[in-house]
Amino acid sequence: MRIRRILSDGQPGETLTVKGWVRTRRDSKQGLSFVELNDGSCMGNLQAVIPAETPGYEEAIKDVSTGAAVALTGELVESPGTGQRIELRVGEFAVIGKADPEKYVLQKKRHSFEFLREIAHLRPRTNTFGAVARVRNEICASIHRFFQSRDFVYVNTPVITTSDCEGAGEMFQVTTLDLARLAQLQTTVDWSQDFFGKPASLTVSGQLEAEIYATSLGDCYTFGPTFRAENSNTTRHLAEFWMVEPEMPFYELEDNMGLAQEFIQTICRDVLEHCPEDMEFFNKRIDDTVRATLENITSNDFVRLSYTEAVELLEKSGKEWQFPVEWGSDLQSEHERWLTEEHFEQPVILFDYPRTIKPFYMRVNEDGKTVRAMDVLVPRVGEIIGGSQREERLDVLQDRMREQDLDPAEYWWYCELREYGTVPHSGFGLGLERAVQLVTGMQNIRDVIPFPRTPGHAEF
Ligand code: 4AD
Ligand code: MG
Repeated sequence: MRIRRILSDGQPGETLTVKGWVRTRRDSKQGLSFVELNDGSCMGNLQAVIPAETPGYEEAIKDVSTGAAVALTGELVESPGTGQRIELRVGEFAVIGKADPEKYVLQKKRHSFEFLREIAHLRPRTNTFGAVARVRNEICASIHRFFQSRDFVYVNTPVITTSDCEGAGEMFQVTTLDLARLAQLQTTVDWSQDFFGKPASLTVSGQLEAEIYATSLGDCYTFGPTFRAENSNTTRHLAEFWMVEPEMPFYELEDNMGLAQEFIQTICRDVLEHCPEDMEFFNKRIDDTVRATLENITSNDFVRLSYTEAVELLEKSGKEWQFPVEWGSDLQSEHERWLTEEHFEQPVILFDYPRTIKPFYMRVNEDGKTVRAMDVLVPRVGEIIGGSQREERLDVLQDRMREQDLDPAEYWWYCELREYGTVPHSGFGLGLERAVQLVTGMQNIRDVIPFPRTPGHAEF
């Protein structure tokens, strides 16, 4: 039985064996050793009491040290101490794997998140990173439940691709060519000699392939790692992140916004309901507004505002912006956060952005100047979702591609979807790590993914 179950359901009198890692050990003068044991199943530790008469105590108790893996067998008893309902009276114990106290760095004290990033192999043993991992797991489970219960089909889209979905040129190239040799020879690259016979990259989004399945199977979603070689060292950008991308035929932008709102609300509600202990921790230790933020999100409709209206608000705000606001330029994080954190104090869905700043696949509006884009902005994080209604008219789509220096011939299969049974359709992408940031209150995106990849960092 894992410690989470023992702490909630364990009854005095039960005999059991518990395995885990020692958080602390304290020896009393009365000949008892008190061990706090954690097995990762929950934040709480199981208190175990090992009497000095226990077989092997003399030789082995010193190895029951912080970080060591142990197996403790004994009987659950009502705890006479405060702070726990039950504890384990140990009758037998074994040290499975030692941890040299001189070398094990995770002793009982606060470590900075920066330092813990350098020991990403040990940081999940801390309270914070254990809680992040469990909440991230709950969010993933909630995402699948949300779509499965609505009969969406989970589609696996490729990681290696030869198209640039966002058209932003932020792709990591994938090649088996010997670059060092090519540099030596100072030749030009013959892509036909490369593995795929042409340049290939890691995907920035599974959307284009999701559209293929959505226009055959109906509502579907992809959920996987995506890669962006943007050189932005911010607390909200990773080079490798996970994205959930639902795609729905017969959805117009308003339907898309409705689904996005329901989706985020469901994730927040599920975490509040299923991870109360971890959420208590985040609210107490990381950000004391996080629970109130989630409760606000789950109980109110999101504000819906056009990009043009947002620009007017920002211009009238009287704020000194680092980046000037002007119709036609992309909103920066400072603008997004002002709207959602200060002005509305709740999530905001911005829609109908200028066509010049958005990718080719977004549907052009009647005005010819804007496209049916939508971004969902939330407090503390800013943009958490980007999405749109897709351009379903072949001629308009091809014009948009040429406008953005893309060759429609290279996207022939995407264009053909508009030739055979084309339909209005929409979708969006939620950045998983930004969702974890929203829910936990963690400041830095590097601390909500197990092994962050950012410029200059790919250790572990
Ligand atoms: O707004 P984006 O670029 O939209 C797309 O990729 C669309 N193809 C989605 C779709 O319509 N199917 O990215 C979607 C979300 C962002 O809102 C953000 O949450 C996250 O992905 N994201 C990142 N997260 C971490 N690091 C980065 N570098 C990110 N770039 C985007
Ligand atoms: Mg975006």
